[in-house]
Amino acid sequence: MSIRPRILLTRRWTREVEQHLASLYDVTRNEHDVPMTADELRKAMREHDVLCPTVTDRIDAAVLGVADRRVRLIGNFGVGINHIDLAAAKQHDIRVTNTPDVLTETTADLAILLLLMATRRAGEGERELRAGRWTGWRPTHLMGQGLAGKTLGLVGFGRIAQVTARKAHLAFGMKIAYHSRRRAAADIEAGTGAHFYASLDELVATADVISLHCPGGAETFHLIDAPRLARMKPTAVLINTARGPVVDEAALVAALGEMRIAAAGLDVYEEEPRVHPGLLALQNAVLLPHLGSATEETRTAMGMRVAANLAAFFAGRPLQDAVC
Ligand code: 8YV
Repeated sequence: MSIRPRILLTRRWTREVEQHLASLYDVTRNEHDVPMTADELRKAMREHDVLCPTVTDRIDAAVLGVADRRVRLIGNFGVGINHIDLAAAKQHDIRVTNTPDVLTETTADLAILLLLMATRRAGEGERELRAGRWTGWRPTHLMGQGLAGKTLGLVGFGRIAQVTARKAHLAFGMKIAYHSRRRAAADIEAGTGAHFYASLDELVATADVISLHCPGGAETFHLIDAPRLARMKPTAVLINTARGPVVDEAALVAALGEMRIAAAGLDVYEEEPRVHPGLLALQNAVLLPHLGSATEETRTAMGMRVAANLAAFFAGRPLQDAVC
């Protein structure tokens, strides 16, 4: 009998994917589905051929550089890989893959959900109603902001940002502006009439809704800081479906609390699962628990995308989603 490769899933995945992987590999599951400790991760690196982590695992140099390591591939469940030390992975000759494409529409949908909830004050309305504080219809009750003709400013213009732009432009008549390290090709801009801003400061001062779509990590840490929040319009709405540390949360709490910007819609936080207590107290913050890709279909597609990368790896074929 041939020995099957040993795979570790750091969290529970959908049943369909777990069954698929179990039919091919010797799979270790994290039955309790709580984040693994650094010690457990280091031990797993010695006992498996592939480690499949998520955003809740810190795959740092100490984990990757463990003595007597057996892991040769990190098959990340998710597109963002800021929780993995890629330089250390390269140094130890460990391949890393992610799961792009399959979560693009779903995450863009969530950005639109936050955009609508924040501009139409949906969270406030639901809280009022559930608390029995709704006194009935009146012309000035919980007035929000319309979207038609307003400018959506995207920070980062990759796959998810482009689909968010398309949905906002086609469904709600928003104008599209963006800032990114590289300007997009003319035909991509033409699809939504997207206007490129070389200066992020100018984009945040111009946009009515600012939606973040850049990667996490050192380069984008606190990209939206107190001075940039101060440049935003008093009516501006900030949406974050990217990574929490892109925004200085304490500065955002101050800006929202003093109504220097109108509202925020957040799916990600600086120190998940901890949420800044100041945010919890604010009526004008819509707060979701990192649900960007959370649909049944997408979570299965993400797992299957990891499985496809594993299959290629063990067959000695090129890795479709290699990040290093
Ligand atoms: C995932 C995400 O749920 O893929 C990403 O980068 O933020 C989410 O869609 C999570 O990161 C899984 O690791």
